[in-house]
Amino acid sequence: MINDIEPYVAGEQPKQGQKVIKLNTNENPYPPTPKVKEALEQFDLSTLRLYPDTNSTDVIKAAAAFDGVSEENIFCGNGSDEVLAIAFQTFFEKKALTGLPVLMPDYSYSFYPVFSEFYDIRRQTIALKEDFRLDPDDYIGVPNCGIVFANPNAPTSRAIAVADCARIAAANPDSVVIVDEAYVAFEENYESAVTLINEYKNVCVIRTLSKAFSLAGIRLGYAVGSPELIEGLKRARDSFNSYPVDRLAQKVAEAALLDKAYYDETRSKIIATRAAFAKELEELGFTMPPSSANFVFAKPPVDCGTLYQNLRNKGILVRYFNKPVLKDYLRITIGTDEEMAQLLDAIKEEVKNAENSADCKTDKRD
Ligand SMILES: Cc1ncc(COP(=O)(O)O)c(C=O)c1O
Repeated sequence: MINDIEPYVAGEQPKQGQKVIKLNTNENPYPPTPKVKEALEQFDLSTLRLYPDTNSTDVIKAAAAFDGVSEENIFCGNGSDEVLAIAFQTFFEKKALTGLPVLMPDYSYSFYPVFSEFYDIRRQTIALKEDFRLDPDDYIGVPNCGIVFANPNAPTSRAIAVADCARIAAANPDSVVIVDEAYVAFEENYESAVTLINEYKNVCVIRTLSKAFSLAGIRLGYAVGSPELIEGLKRARDSFNSYPVDRLAQKVAEAALLDKAYYDETRSKIIATRAAFAKELEELGFTMPPSSANFVFAKPPVDCGTLYQNLRNKGILVRYFNKPVLKDYLRITIGTDEEMAQLLDAIKEEVKNAENSADCKTDKRD
């Protein structure tokens, strides 16, 4: 029943006009490509009276060229959250009636458990290793109605090799394996599981324009998979909302997907900022798994909840999950160099204050 479901809780959105450094929802600190501005300037407003193209054909063409696949391999939706929701329903819901669980890592994107609750699909969470590595062997020989994981994973930031995704797919030929690649672009020479879809008809890769394309505001995500999988997603969409992506979003998404040079430029900047920022954090005594994403998952040398709150009081938003194990870590989105420098200054001050107050306590005891 809907009242029993605990809905997804999105990261805090500041009020309009509130000045904050926003590093809590893994948005891109850079604007979208100037081609988006051009596309909007050329947009024929009179077409807004008409329903949009149900299939988002031009976006699909651009995405197919971007990913080196055919147009029949792509399905577009209103943000990857919507694509994931439709995928859960299409691929897992019916098979789950037999009682088989969907497998997902613990910890991972917190929308997956919500979808499983929403569709009444039993889930079996599979613990990550102590260093937050996902071990593909843990997904072999476990009966299931489907598998979903993020690669790189969120909020832990670690990635597995595409060959490991292939092993999971090969070992589970009767299940759809959803590989959520929201953050895949943030590794220098990244591999994508998109390269698996011809050999493994059960692999469904989920992509978003929210992160590496700086377009969280238009809500555009897509799935890449075999034509059979894509056909299933379309059938589900057309039984629910046959025009999910509006005309403006389609124009904007197409323009962004066609400008790969800009995409490479901004992701390179974020990768460089992340490397410098992680090094500084480590020097301050933070520990963290190696990040392949546009965020780091860092354990501070001081009380995490207090640090989160004090940063928030200073107008710097990062993400804090008040849950076992995760509560010792902050998930910090990589912003511009300037934003990260301001955050580091604030963190240094907090660490120093915490050390001073610890010294005071020791002195009193002496
Ligand atoms: C792993 C993961 N998948 C999917 C999404 C959803 O992205 P979108 O904006 O495309 O709905 C997010 C958003 O933060 C995410 O972290």
